[in-house]
Amino acid sequence: MRIKNPFKTLQAKFTLYLSILIIGIMSVLAFWNILREKNLLREVMIREGKALIESLAISCTNTMLYEEIGLVEEGGLLDNYISDLIQRKDLSIIYAMILDPKGKVIAHHSMKEVGNTYQDELTRRLIASNQTLIQFPSDKVMDISTPLAISTKRWGTLRIGISLEGLKKEVSSLVIKYILYTGLIILLAILVIAFLFRLITKPLKLLSREMDEVKLDVEVSSPPMTGEDEIGILRKSFYRLLQRIKEDEREREKTQRNLILSEKMAAIGKLTSGVAHEINNPLGGLLNCIYHFKRGDLSPDRQKEYCQLMEDGIKRIQKIVTNLLEYAQTPRIERSPTDIRSIIDKSLSLLDHEIQKKKIEVIKDIPEGLPILEVDNHQISQVFVNLFLNSLQAMEQGGILRISIGVGEGQLMVTISDTGKGIPEEILPKVFDPFFTTKGTEKGTGLGLWITQGIIERHGGSIRLSSKEGKGTNVEIRLPIKNN
Ligand SMILES: Nc1ncnc2c1ncn2[C@@H]1O[C@H](COP(=O)(O)OP(=O)(O)O)[C@@H](O)[C@H]1O
Ligand SMILES: [Mg+2]
Repeated sequence: MRIKNPFKTLQAKFTLYLSILIIGIMSVLAFWNILREKNLLREVMIREGKALIESLAISCTNTMLYEEIGLVEEGGLLDNYISDLIQRKDLSIIYAMILDPKGKVIAHHSMKEVGNTYQDELTRRLIASNQTLIQFPSDKVMDISTPLAISTKRWGTLRIGISLEGLKKEVSSLVIKYILYTGLIILLAILVIAFLFRLITKPLKLLSREMDEVKLDVEVSSPPMTGEDEIGILRKSFYRLLQRIKEDEREREKTQRNLILSEKMAAIGKLTSGVAHEINNPLGGLLNCIYHFKRGDLSPDRQKEYCQLMEDGIKRIQKIVTNLLEYAQTPRIERSPTDIRSIIDKSLSLLDHEIQKKKIEVIKDIPEGLPILEVDNHQISQVFVNLFLNSLQAMEQGGILRISIGVGEGQLMVTISDTGKGIPEEILPKVFDPFFTTKGTEKGTGLGLWITQGIIERHGGSIRLSSKEGKGTNVEIRLPIKNN
């Protein structure tokens, strides 16, 4: 057997679960690492920016102080500092300026800003702060400012803006790196799994094919050589299981044979004791008659009576022997294409006299176009005669005999029902026994149903009898349409 959907293989499932696991682990790791790296970079930037601005602040303060006390006359030094700052490549500074205590721009990297006064919240906060202040006006810029003051005297504020784009780029390259790593690890895992699975599934597939192809009748007492690994053990177990199944099968066949044999023995026992009993009775009567004839003490009337008794006894023995002979001689069935409807009609016509006499209504519910059966028509007509006769004998006061036929499940089903006296529940299980009769030795032999059952079973069919005392009896016969 093969797995048709490749996504249902163990290999696919393992690969999927492992990939999910790797993605999970890598995501947590990446998230944690990127966050750490980002913070580290930011701290470095802050530290560098702060160091830069604070060292420059000293020069600016000095310049402003000197200007104020008139030591430095030419202006423009502050502008130089600012343009030096903006040209630095190590920190990507996007703006640099000096503000006076009111927020007015004294020096700026862009000359046209000089003279403007900034009133925004950020500026207000930084001109009010008397220490270095780091603010983030957006996620793209870091604003660092430091007061230009000595003791309580304040000349203004030095302020720079550092771009955070570099940081962002660094972070996104880290993310890409992690995605690449994850993909690489997953690919590697798939390759390793594929390799490992080939190692495991190859012998498994071989074993599965072997299991599919092995026949139960193969000699399995010595299983083929196998490896010592788990699959080898599985293979050994499979052959041991096969061995056990074979042994069980043999055991079952033996038990069944014994069962059939004991059933046969029981049937033969029943039959012989029945025959002995049935024949012994009239034989006893016959012997008694012969004894009286020998003595010669019988009156002519008595002689006549005894002759009649002897004739009856011999006829009875003859009837039993004929019936038994019929049964014994015809275990073989001679099949020929047979129309069940005509067999039923012929069987009924044999009993016509009886039917008329008892004023029995016969209803035939037989559909047209029934399949032709391959059966032994002599034996099957014997079946119907036996069953019709039983029904007629059960309807001493008249009644209805209904014969209906149906087809289904490859079988022909004939139902014969009568409105006779029925069968008491306690004797129902015995009616198929040979010599079981409730009709007395005059009328019944007790062989009818027994012979009938034998014929039906030899044809591969089945017979069932159900009855309700006082209501009637139903006999259902099933015959296979295709002979076996
Ligand atoms: N249609 C029936 N109605 C009532 N009793 C039946 C019917 N068929 C069979 N039996 C009962 O089953 C017994 C056995 O039937 P069978 O084997 O034909 O032997 P026999 O007819 O010689 O008695 C009968 O004696 C009778 O009691
Ligand atoms: Mg009978």
